[in-house]
Amino acid sequence: MSDLTTDILDGVRKYHQDRQEQREFVPGTTEIWPSGAVLTEEDRTALVEAALEMRIASGGISRRFESAFARRMRRRKAHLTNSGSSANLLAVSALTSHLLGDRQLRPGDEVITVAAGFPTTVNPILQNGLVPVFVDVELRTYNTTVERVAEAIGPRTRAIVMAHTLGNPFEAAEIARLAEERELLLVEDTCDAVDSTYDGQRVGSFGDLCTVSFYPAHHLTMGEGGCVLTSNLVLARIVESLRDWGRDCWCEPGESDTCRKRFGYQMGTLPAGYDHKYIFSHVGYNLKSTDLQAALGLSQLDKLDGFSSARRRNWRRLREGLADLPWLLLPEPTPRSDPSWFGFALTVDPQAPFSRAQLVSFLEARKIGTRRLFAGNLTRHPAYADRPHRVSGDLVNSDLVTEHTFWVGVYPGLTEEMIDYVVESITEFVGSQR
Ligand SMILES: Cc1ncc(COP(=O)(O)O)c(C=O)c1O
Repeated sequence: MSDLTTDILDGVRKYHQDRQEQREFVPGTTEIWPSGAVLTEEDRTALVEAALEMRIASGGISRRFESAFARRMRRRKAHLTNSGSSANLLAVSALTSHLLGDRQLRPGDEVITVAAGFPTTVNPILQNGLVPVFVDVELRTYNTTVERVAEAIGPRTRAIVMAHTLGNPFEAAEIARLAEERELLLVEDTCDAVDSTYDGQRVGSFGDLCTVSFYPAHHLTMGEGGCVLTSNLVLARIVESLRDWGRDCWCEPGESDTCRKRFGYQMGTLPAGYDHKYIFSHVGYNLKSTDLQAALGLSQLDKLDGFSSARRRNWRRLREGLADLPWLLLPEPTPRSDPSWFGFALTVDPQAPFSRAQLVSFLEARKIGTRRLFAGNLTRHPAYADRPHRVSGDLVNSDLVTEHTFWVGVYPGLTEEMIDYVVESITEFVGSQR
C-alpha cells in the first residue's frame, strides 16, 4: 500500500471516529429502528479503499467474497448479484434451463410457495410463466409445514420455493426429503436467515439453490446486493450465465480464453469458430454487482458471528420480557432449529380488547419502529388478483397474519436499554386495556 493510500485511509478512520457521537438513548425520543445496518470503521475504510482503486465493476474482490461466503454457507459456489430479489429471479429462472434435461421446469408447471411472505420470493415464479401454488403458514413460527406442502403436490408440481420466515427455519430437512422423494427442485429463500440452523445444519444448505439479500436490513450488508448459492455445478453454471447476459462463456471481465478454445466452438446455427465470448446459451439478464459492494461485504462478513449472537440475544430478551402478557401470540422457533432472527413477530389475538392498529400506533408514537410480516396474504394484493395460481387448503392463518401480525426489531444496533423499553411499552399498553 502506498504512503498516500495509508494517509488517506488513516484520515478515513479519523473521519469515522469523529462521526461517532455518543448518542444517549432517550426513551420515547430516540428512534428504535426495526432493522438497520451496523457499519464500523473497517467497513468505511474497506469501501473507500476499493473506491480509491476504482473497483467500480465486478472483479477480484467479488470473487473473493463469493469464495468466502460459499465456505461460510457450506455450498460449493456463490454468485453475487445486485439484490436478494435478483437472486430469487436467478434461482427460479435457473430451474427453467434446458441444461437440466428432464428436470427443466416449463411454462404452466407448478411451484409450491407460501401465501404470507415477501413478494419477490413469489414473483419469479410468475415471471417465468410458472404457476404458484399457495399454502398456508402456522401462527407463531410463520412457516408452513411439510404436511401442507405434501398435500399441495399435484401432477404438474415441479418445485418448492420458500423463505425461512423472519430468520426462523422451515422444516428444512423434511421438506428437502419430500422434494427428493417427489422429484421436486427446492429453492430456499435464505434472505432473512443467514446463520440460522435446522438440525444443526445451516439453512441454505438443504435445497438445490439458496438466495441471500445484503440490503441494510439483513444479517450482513453491501447496501444493495444479493447472492445465489448452490453445490450443484450445473446449476451454478446456469446461474452465472443468466446473471451475465445469458452468455455461454465463463471468462471473467478482462480474461479472454480460459477454456483455451475461444474460437473452437460451434453452437446453434452460428458459424464454426464464432467467438465464445459472444455465444448466448440462455435468455439472460445483467444482474451483476460491483467490487465496491463486495469490499463492504467482505468486511461485514468478519463480524457475522457477533451480529448473529446479538440477534439471538435481543430476541431472547424480548421473548422473556413479554412471556406473561395476555392477548399476544409470541413467536416460537421451529422445533430443532436455532434461528438467527430477522425480527420479533407478534400476533394480536383477534379476541383481544385492542387491535393491532392501536398497539402499533402506541409503539410508533414512542418511536418504536414496527413492520408488517411483509405482504401478509399475497393473494389479497391487487398485483396477484388476475395471475394464474392455485391455493391448496385454506389461507386462514395467512389472513390472520394480514390482519393481526406485526414485528419489532432485534438487529445488532439495538441496545439492552432499547429492548427493555420495547418490553415496557408493550407491557404498559396491554396492561392498560380491559
Ligand atoms: C424473504 C425475502 N426475500 C427476498 C427479499 C428481497 O431482497 P432485496 O431487498 O435485497 O431485493 C427480502 C427483502 O427483505 C426478503 O425478506
